[in-house]
Amino acid sequence: MSTPLLEVRHLVVEFPSRHGTLRALDDISFSIAPGEILGVVGESGAGKSLTGAAIIGLLEPPGRVAGGEILLDGQRIDNLSHDKMRHIRGRKIGAIFQDPLTSLNPLYTVGRQLTETIQAHLPVNAAEARRRAIGLLQDTGIPAAEQRIDHFPHQFSGGMRQRVVIALALAAEPKLIVADEPTTALDVSIQAQIIQLLKRICKERGAAVMLITHDMGVIAETCDRVAVLYAGRVAEMGPVHEVIHQPAHPYTAGLMAAIPDIEIDRERLNQIDGAMPRLNAIPRGCAYNPRCPRVFERCVQERPDLINAGATRAACWLHDAHEPHVALSGVGA
Ligand SMILES: Nc1ncnc2c1ncn2[C@@H]1O[C@H](COP(=O)(O)OP(=O)(O)OP(=O)(O)O)[C@@H](O)[C@H]1O
Ligand code: SF4
Ligand SMILES: [Mg+2]
Repeated sequence: MSTPLLEVRHLVVEFPSRHGTLRALDDISFSIAPGEILGVVGESGAGKSLTGAAIIGLLEPPGRVAGGEILLDGQRIDNLSHDKMRHIRGRKIGAIFQDPLTSLNPLYTVGRQLTETIQAHLPVNAAEARRRAIGLLQDTGIPAAEQRIDHFPHQFSGGMRQRVVIALALAAEPKLIVADEPTTALDVSIQAQIIQLLKRICKERGAAVMLITHDMGVIAETCDRVAVLYAGRVAEMGPVHEVIHQPAHPYTAGLMAAIPDIEIDRERLNQIDGAMPRLNAIPRGCAYNPRCPRVFERCVQERPDLINAGATRAACWLHDAHEPHVALSGVGA
């Protein structure tokens, strides 16, 4: 495996609160290789957006990185000043959020926003920046890009606006794109197009992507590897095909029910009963134990870390070699 582009090591994110400190991310570790698409999936509240926000340096106070480190190209970026981080965002990391309007300034034409970003980070003159901006709009599928470049964000439809945001995220040729639910706010009929665009354009440019979504179907079609988050921890991580077809963690197996065309026992896995625990009530032992169909005694006593589980790694005692309940095949099989 090549040297990671991004490495997240033992990341802890906390929120001070009146009732003590809430730990929202608890020892999250993963890496992304150059050009790789890593999916980050999990139910609402799992910690997906906080993980993305910590990486791009946009955690909202009082949330803070309370432990661990984040490295980009081998350099720590979790302890940089706001100014340095702002430069890295844009030049080295592009961000795409759910609502395209959060990334666009309504008062400026999209051309101005693109050319300013290009010129802020790359040594090109105004004419070259404009030429590149038009190229980016063309590559992201904006028709008549030479005219549309002088339009304002509100003159674009939601889907076209998200294409502009993708162009903007890529404008300074970053090596990593963090995309947090990039299609959730869009019309269902164009979601797949935008995901395919994101995948194609990042692969063409060799940009790695951290794609945050709650949709296992999107993960299946788009990603190389996937990290499944539950209650602020990684429940399972591995190559996308293996995680989907031979999930090793009962929670991943439960999430599979969301993919309509995957062959699984739909009766058994139709939905996961119960809900993700609140941060102030995370169960002892394995956080998933109150909902887990495979729970056994150890699960309510000890918290599992990621362990090798066939082709993936799973935080589940079923895969502990010393455990009599050891499961050799995927739990969803
Ligand atoms: N400002 C905050 N103060 C306290 N807790 C917070 C704050 N922001 C997020 N959290 C908590 O952190 C946890 C993770 O939140 P996060 O936004 O990362 O979830 P998510 O996986 O992105 O969910 P969704 O799918 O709904 O976007 C949640 O329990 C959430 O309530
Ligand atoms: S550790 Fe136990 S409760 Fe947690 S997922 Fe595995 S079997 Fe279920
Ligand atoms: Mg989120």
